Amino acid sequence: MGSRHIIRWTPAVGLAVTLMVISNVLSSPRTSTSPPIFDVADGRIQPKQAHGIGHLGCNAASCHGGGNVGEPGSESLTWFEGDPHRKAYAVLHNAQSKTIAKNLAGPHGTVIAAHRDERCLKCHAPDAVTIPDQRLISPIGVGCESCHGPAGEWGTAHYQPGWKSLSAKQQAGEYGFYPLKDLGFRVRVCASCHVGDENRDVNHDLIAAGHPRLAFEYTAYHHQPDYQKHWKERDPQFESKAWETGQIACARAAVALLKTRADRAETSANTWPELSEYACFSCHKELATPSWKNVTSTTHRLGGMRWGSWYNATLPWLADARGDGVKPLDIPAKLKHLTSLAESPTANPKTISLRAAEVMTDFDRWLSLTNEPLSPRAISFGLSANALTPDHLKLRNMEWDEATQHYLGLAAARYAVHSTAKTNPDPLIELRQTLRFPVGPAGRIDSPRDTDPARVLKLFQDLQHPTPREQRP
Ligand code: HEC
Ligand code: HEC
Ligand code: HEC
Ligand code: HEC
Repeated sequence: MGSRHIIRWTPAVGLAVTLMVISNVLSSPRTSTSPPIFDVADGRIQPKQAHGIGHLGCNAASCHGGGNVGEPGSESLTWFEGDPHRKAYAVLHNAQSKTIAKNLAGPHGTVIAAHRDERCLKCHAPDAVTIPDQRLISPIGVGCESCHGPAGEWGTAHYQPGWKSLSAKQQAGEYGFYPLKDLGFRVRVCASCHVGDENRDVNHDLIAAGHPRLAFEYTAYHHQPDYQKHWKERDPQFESKAWETGQIACARAAVALLKTRADRAETSANTWPELSEYACFSCHKELATPSWKNVTSTTHRLGGMRWGSWYNATLPWLADARGDGVKPLDIPAKLKHLTSLAESPTANPKTISLRAAEVMTDFDRWLSLTNEPLSPRAISFGLSANALTPDHLKLRNMEWDEATQHYLGLAAARYAVHSTAKTNPDPLIELRQTLRFPVGPAGRIDSPRDTDPARVLKLFQDLQHPTPREQRP
């Protein structure tokens, strides 16, 4: 895909938005006695709770549209130039989207153009769904309010004197301004589109129609090389915190999705169980390499559907590594039980929904614990050891999903020490190359079929015993 601009950044655009901002100042302020419009603790993202104003409201040169890319005050420009979300609407016009739309309609159905289909717009251009007049202005992908909250209430308030003295809870509760500095909340916002939620879904129908599978991991996406961020992380422990929080918050989102689907299983024509929650290569055998498949598995029937292979890959280890604070929640046992229900053809959706709700509550408790983050060394030693534990036969049961999640944790730990120590060859880089999907003559092959498990095993062994220089905490 090219990086063509949809509209050009001109002084006229700047002027128009300045006028909008000025007219917004005249709207009446909220009183602090109004009921909260947004409750962070309730665990949802509620885009419709407050009304949005559209991205143009944020872009004035004196607000976020000035300066140079990467500097404070130029957030809109940075987003416009280097944020993948800016293209999210444009891709709905491309050939892949046309194919998806055609496949979804089937041979006899009426094709709904992707850029008009609410199923797609909800994630690719939410403003076009929630703000009626945004359909008139060309929708512009995932804009400011998709992550910072609908600005109807906070738009004019957040630059007034006194705003900064409000707590994050007040800014959220009274104005609907999302507390993105809270990493757990932030990942939940990302996950509402990148994992899915009760309103937005990339299910197996969409995947079979041609949509990429969603497999989100917060630190990998945060560090995606083409993603130019419009803020700087100032917390020196950001990497370890972000990895751990990301693992928990994404797993929570995946369990919430399981619960939503279980709740709907009886009342609607939705397919149940939803295939996209299971390891793809349990069914798509022809895509999986024989060497992964030939490995005997003790906990999973060969050919059985494996639930949650992506989002739960590291959690049992993480909960154990966390020790006392998390132990009483007994997350590994509860997850194991939920997994066995989700993998059982006879389990009742109602039971699954109840168990899923319990696990969600426990994840919320876990997220609310203010622990010191695990040290990068603990993460990297622990995860590589976890991959090799003979007791749990981890690597033998581990397929591409689990191996890749373990790799991503190791990579986050490496970022966290900002290690300049290089070994040659570097097992972490080799592991990444080993896990990467191959590119064939006709483009990328969407399968790990050429991945060599023996090589993966060897690299985890090398990573468990790093060179002394890499061992510094
Ligand atoms: C639950 C949210 C969600 C829904 C619903 C959704 N998408 Fe997506 N879509 C995404 C995300 C997230 C990505 C990026 C995937 C990645 O790279 O991890 C994506 C990627 C894509 C891509 C690949 C874009 C690229 O840059 O290569 C296309 C094409 C696409 N979506 C089209 C559609 C169409 C058409 C629909 C409706 C039928 C749709 N999407 C519905 C979230 C969604
Ligand atoms: C994909 C999600 C996302 C989108 C879209 C997004 N932001 Fe942000 N933004 C964040 C995150 C995460 C932070 C960091 C947390 C924080 O500082 O509050 C942030 C931080 C900021 C900050 C604080 C910068 C600083 O130096 O601390 C401003 C201002 C901002 N965003 C403005 C915007 C504007 C304007 C837009 C639209 C052009 C926008 N954001 C779009 C996620 C997003
Ligand atoms: C409103 C929905 C939405 C939210 C919220 C959201 N994203 Fe996205 N994101 C998308 C869609 C849709 C795409 C696909 C865009 C495309 O391919 O053009 C995408 C693409 C991306 C990409 C590029 C992926 C690739 O394969 O190139 C990154 C990185 C990313 N998002 C990170 C994040 C992070 C981090 C957050 C949270 C701070 C976040 N996103 C929040 C919808 C969202
Ligand atoms: C329980 C078995 C099962 C699981 C798990 C499963 N699929 Fe499928 N998949 C099927 C079947 C059966 C079809 C053919 C019918 C259809 O299109 O729905 C199919 C079709 C597809 C297609 C269309 C291409 C084709 O050959 O027809 C794609 C792409 C696909 N699946 C990808 C995935 C991905 C990615 C995952 C993991 C997120 C996944 N599947 C998980 C059974 C499964």
